[in-house]
Amino acid sequence: MSDTNARGYTAAHRILEGKSALFAVLVTVAILIGGIVEIVPMFSAGTGPEMLPGVTPYTALELRGRDIYISEGCYTCHSQMVRPTRAEVMRYGEWSRAGEYAYDHPFLLGSRRLGPDLHRVGGKYPDAWHYEHMRDPRSTSPGSVMPPYPWMLHDRYDVADIQASLRALRKVGVPYTDAEIDGAPAAIEAQARGIVDRLATAGITAEPDRDIIAMIAYLQRLGKDGRAALSAGTAATP
Ligand code: HEC
Repeated sequence: MSDTNARGYTAAHRILEGKSALFAVLVTVAILIGGIVEIVPMFSAGTGPEMLPGVTPYTALELRGRDIYISEGCYTCHSQMVRPTRAEVMRYGEWSRAGEYAYDHPFLLGSRRLGPDLHRVGGKYPDAWHYEHMRDPRSTSPGSVMPPYPWMLHDRYDVADIQASLRALRKVGVPYTDAEIDGAPAAIEAQARGIVDRLATAGITAEPDRDIIAMIAYLQRLGKDGRAALSAGTAATP
C-alpha cells in the first residue's frame, strides 16, 4: 500500500498513523470529549425519576405484600408493564407510565408472561377472589397453571420487619415520615381490618395478621394511583 493517493498527496491520517504516540494522545482526547458529552448532562440536568402526580408510596401492609410477591417469585410469571399497543391497552387498560414506578425498589417489570400482566389488576376482582385464587388458582380459574400458595393463609407477618423495610426504603429515597414508620402497626391493623371485613361479607373468616391479607392489599393497589392520575388528565399522552 502506498502512502500517497491517486493525485500524489500523502493522506493526513497516514502521517498520523505513523506517529503512534501522538496518535494515541489524540485518540484519548477524542474519547474524553465523548465521555464528557455523555456524562456531564447526567449530573447537571437534574433529571430524577419522572414523577406522575397522585402516585404515592405503598402503605406498610402493601409493602409486606410486595415483599411476598418478590420472595415467592411471582415476577417470574407475571409482568407489571402494560405496553402502549392497542392489544395490550384493550386487554389490561392504560399503558404504564414511568412515573408509576417512582417508589418501586426494585422494579418488578418482569420479562416473562406465563400469566397475565398485573400492573392494572388492582380493583379488577373482589378481595375474596384473590383469597380463593391464592389458596387454589384452579378454584377461580379452571385449568390454571399457576401454583397454589396455601401457606399464605396461615403464615403471619412481622410488623417490626415491615417497619425495617420502611426504614430501608427511606434510605433509597421513598419519602416515609417518622410518623408513618412509628404509626405503621396501627395503619397495618386498620387496613387489614378493612380487608378482613370485606372477606367476611363473602363468607370467608380470616385473621388480619396473615400474609394473605398483605398480598391482597398489594394486589388491590397495583396500578390504581396511575389510573387515577391518568383519568384526571395529569399524565402525558403518547
Ligand atoms: C408458573 C407461573 C405463575 C406463577 C409463579 C404465578 N402465577 Fe399468577 N397466574 C399465572 C397464570 C397462568 C394465570 C392465569 C390463570 C389464573 O387466573 O390463575 C395467573 C393469574 C394471576 C392473577 C389474576 C390476573 C388476572 O388479571 O386475571 C393474579 C392476581 C396472580 N396470578 C397473582 C400471582 C401472584 C401474587 C403470584 C405469586 C405469589 C403468582 N401469581 C405466581 C401464572 C403464575
